[in-house]
Amino acid sequence: MRVVLGVAGGIAAYKACLLLRRLTEDGHEVTVVPTEAALRFVGEPTWAALSGRPVATDVWSRVHEVPHVRLGQQAELVLVAPATADLLARAAHGLADDLLTNTLLTARCPVLLAPAMHTEMWTHPATSANVRLLRERGVHVLEPASGRLTGVDTGPGRLPEPEEIYAAARGLLPRLAEAPGAGPQPDLAGRHVVVSAGGTREPLDPVRFLGNRSSGKQGYALAEVAARRGARVTLVAANVDLPAPAGAELRPVETALELQREVEAAATDADAVVMAAAVADFRPREYQPAKIKKSHAAGEEEQAPTVALARNPDVLAGLVRARGEGRRPVVVGFAAETGDDTGDVLAHARAKLERKGCDLLVANEVGPGVTFGQDRSTVHLLRPDRSEPRTVGPAAKAAVAEAVWDEVVSLLALRGGPVGGGQ
Ligand code: CTP
Repeated sequence: MRVVLGVAGGIAAYKACLLLRRLTEDGHEVTVVPTEAALRFVGEPTWAALSGRPVATDVWSRVHEVPHVRLGQQAELVLVAPATADLLARAAHGLADDLLTNTLLTARCPVLLAPAMHTEMWTHPATSANVRLLRERGVHVLEPASGRLTGVDTGPGRLPEPEEIYAAARGLLPRLAEAPGAGPQPDLAGRHVVVSAGGTREPLDPVRFLGNRSSGKQGYALAEVAARRGARVTLVAANVDLPAPAGAELRPVETALELQREVEAAATDADAVVMAAAVADFRPREYQPAKIKKSHAAGEEEQAPTVALARNPDVLAGLVRARGEGRRPVVVGFAAETGDDTGDVLAHARAKLERKGCDLLVANEVGPGVTFGQDRSTVHLLRPDRSEPRTVGPAAKAAVAEAVWDEVVSLLALRGGPVGGGQ
């Protein structure tokens, strides 16, 4: 594929050499576009030697080839690593003051930016606003890694490792993985998967809601891993305060009813739906349009209002029912369980798998010291066609996500049929 590798002026430019090597080794045709500042860190001969192609450095060289338009138009992927605070600002505001920003303006292919800068610059409201704007326009901006920066300081701002950037690019563009030497085709390539994440909020009045403690971390890890494994990912996120994973299409929602609408709409052509969101089973029966006040009337100090609740739809059950009508996405449910005197975690999970009728149930152990928002968890993966559960963990959310997608891939293979669902 034709890839433009933009390099902005940061010390992490040296890591872009490894990324470039990885891309060319896999057979891609890479044109490096370093900014003037980048060339102070790594010189033109290095880029030329590693890419095996002339390096495009400014709009005034080889003007007859109109490089400021041609490069962007012909690219199938534009990747910028490192993307400095200055580059993000120029890209967000549509400046075209050098060859790289011209290329970003003329490109109509996927664009992936891998930022690297000092923590203060990354967390500055100006940079946050620029990143938000770029993401709103569909540009994929990776989160920088945390760790040792150029000096003695540490924090978020490190360029992600070249392998990670390459994996994000492959997730974004399954074709990137088809190049000779690129290794096996990712196992979710050509699949559309829907992931729900976070926890719904059910409004009571303009300032209050009924909610839950779900952080959305597991759902986001699922979306990120699926994208990396080649899937087109729709991520329906209920009140999640995390950066959107590269390669996933984000649909933010607040309530269970909104989540149901988005999940069902996305599920129409999905191969798999993973319901990792904590969906409220009940919502206040009536929304009070004005804030509910404490009564000041004499003698009423002890009085408190009673909130009547209404049942929310069970989204997972609806998906399972809809499968009977022809569509057959693999449906995955999550269950946070504790043991009690009627049974242990697994007994409850088995009963829920049967009750819910889904193809895979991911049972999460919750209890003392195993709370929401933790980075590591233990899960049991239960399938109706298997007598024994598969237990994973304690493991990072990404490892749990890999195990869930392994199961989905195996279920899709058992099912056979065309890629793209609908049989
Ligand atoms: N779920 C859903 N819609 C709801 C509630 C839950 O789709 N209104 C989904 C969740 O996303 C999760 C699964 O159902 O994937 C399990 O939810 P859970 O609340 O554990 O199931 P319940 O049947 O409500 O079980 P319990 O009686 O233990 O609360």
